[in-house]
Amino acid sequence: MCGIVGYIGDKDAYPIIIKGLQRLEYRGYDSAGIALSQGSDITILKQKGKVSDLEEYAADKNRKGTIGIGHTRWATHGVPNQKNAHPHSSGDGKLAIIHNGIIENYDSIKRMLSEKGHEFTSDTDTEVLIHLIEEIKNHEQCKLFEAVRLSLNEVIGAYAIVVMEEGNKEEFIAARKGSPLVIGIGAEEYFIASDATPIIEYTRDVVYLEDGEVARVNRNEKLEIKTISNIRKNPYIHELEMSLDSIEKGGYPHFMLKEIFEQPSSVLDTLRGRINPETKEVKLGGLMDYEQKLTKANRIIIVACGTSWHAGLIGEYLFEDLARIPVEVEYASEFRYRNPIIKENDIVLAISQSGETADTLAALELAKEKGSTILGICNVVGSSIARLTDAGVYTHAGPEIGVASTKAFTTQVAVLTLMALKIARLKGTITTSNFRNMITELEMISDNVEKVLKSNKLIKEVAAEFKNVQNFLYLGRGYNFPVALEGALKLKEISYIHAEGYPAAEMKHGPIALIDEEMPIVVIATKMGNYEKVVSNIQEVKARGGRLIAIVTEGDITVKELADYVIEIPECSEQLTPLLTNIPLQLLSYYIAVMRGCNVDQPRNLAKSVTVE
Ligand code: F6R
Repeated sequence: MCGIVGYIGDKDAYPIIIKGLQRLEYRGYDSAGIALSQGSDITILKQKGKVSDLEEYAADKNRKGTIGIGHTRWATHGVPNQKNAHPHSSGDGKLAIIHNGIIENYDSIKRMLSEKGHEFTSDTDTEVLIHLIEEIKNHEQCKLFEAVRLSLNEVIGAYAIVVMEEGNKEEFIAARKGSPLVIGIGAEEYFIASDATPIIEYTRDVVYLEDGEVARVNRNEKLEIKTISNIRKNPYIHELEMSLDSIEKGGYPHFMLKEIFEQPSSVLDTLRGRINPETKEVKLGGLMDYEQKLTKANRIIIVACGTSWHAGLIGEYLFEDLARIPVEVEYASEFRYRNPIIKENDIVLAISQSGETADTLAALELAKEKGSTILGICNVVGSSIARLTDAGVYTHAGPEIGVASTKAFTTQVAVLTLMALKIARLKGTITTSNFRNMITELEMISDNVEKVLKSNKLIKEVAAEFKNVQNFLYLGRGYNFPVALEGALKLKEISYIHAEGYPAAEMKHGPIALIDEEMPIVVIATKMGNYEKVVSNIQEVKARGGRLIAIVTEGDITVKELADYVIEIPECSEQLTPLLTNIPLQLLSYYIAVMRGCNVDQPRNLAKSVTVE
């Protein structure tokens, strides 16, 4: 959601910023813009549409400048058009700003500024903020750094901002609250971005700005950081570990397909070092100090959104089944606003790929305020959620660029499995032989994911058969009910086909009315668990003429006779099936979306990192 890129140095800022914006395209956006300066005037170029539209528009314009800030905007206040695109400038044109987030009290500030004679040219909250900074700077006769700090004291909402000033090509001011910002430190040059992907090819030394901090980034000086309440902070320099390869397509037509095919290695990376090769015990370094709290937990409350919420539902089955701990899985957006009851010995566990989802972050903050232990499962190292939590486990899936989450989901489920096994072992709620079996199967899971990916060709055929339908139903039971929900979400978000996931038995209570010869039904019918019951549900679908695509265990005969298409997964314990059954569903969505001509990596209206509520 919205991307920020900035550069100060002795190089041409334009190509660096454009490339950075392209690297952030995966976050989702609907307009793009850039502000550049050589020291005197600020040139602002902006355009509705993609970064390529901006480049086309800018081709015959002045693009000179060694300082610049660029932005991709995902519309919140005001439609996506050129006038609402960022950067925005102050009334006198001397300041330019880019902003991620929402200024919630922009309306009252706008009215106050209008009374003082300010005129606005866009519908955005961001333009109001830069006018406020201008007003305070003129009124207080202070430097930009101080004016930004003072202005942010007047603001309610979430933001990551970068502000530059006419006549100063050495410096910009940045600040964050609720939306991420990373500053890259080069040799007499600085970079700034919403995440590390635009920075990685220039420097590995970065500073993550904390919530409520304002930074003066001057290319001839060390970073100066203060809180908005004027307390000086020492910047902490992190070293980035991601590689450039991991954020490029590597020969695949789309990031999503690359990420689906990366799953054997990403799952392996998630498990790496977490199963002792000799003792076969699970070790989760990040949770070591919390083992006692986890074994004594009365309840685990999982908070998450979207796909991560589906992973949380699988976590519920795992923790209850293996570790015998009651679990509630909450949409973070609901949890945060309903005065939840959190008791002593409850643990709140957030799951988030990006580690920046605004609702999940707010849910965790609320849980922290209520005195709960807060843990996290995140993919992005150093993200806001990772830093807020008391402890946690990284998924190590590597950067996920495709907007639709694939490898992040699988690795979240892998971490939840390890956690459940670890707690179960500590509590003695699992027999040694069951534990050992599951560990052996986990050690083979990467090879089995690889085997499932071999169904690629068959799944493409299934996609060709169903690409033009209007609706899809996904059914599963037990551990595979959340997989059905995830399969349906994946299809609707990238192909725009309406799809619903249901517990298979629940079908009789309503959705069965939808079934006719036109309706494809994807059913997860693996051996173990409720196999016979799912077979009965399949019979009910068949009796009404529905067309069946079944995910079954290798060697299955019964379902094969009933289903129109059958995709096999290797045999494994029921608890581990989601790690395999979700893969054909990802591929099915991918191929259907490609065949329908959809933009799979950047589906309409969606953003990768939802940093507004
Ligand atoms: C779906 C998808 C979203 C995210 C959701 C939470 O494919 O990607 O539903 O799962 O926005 O994002 P994170 O996990 O970053 O908190």
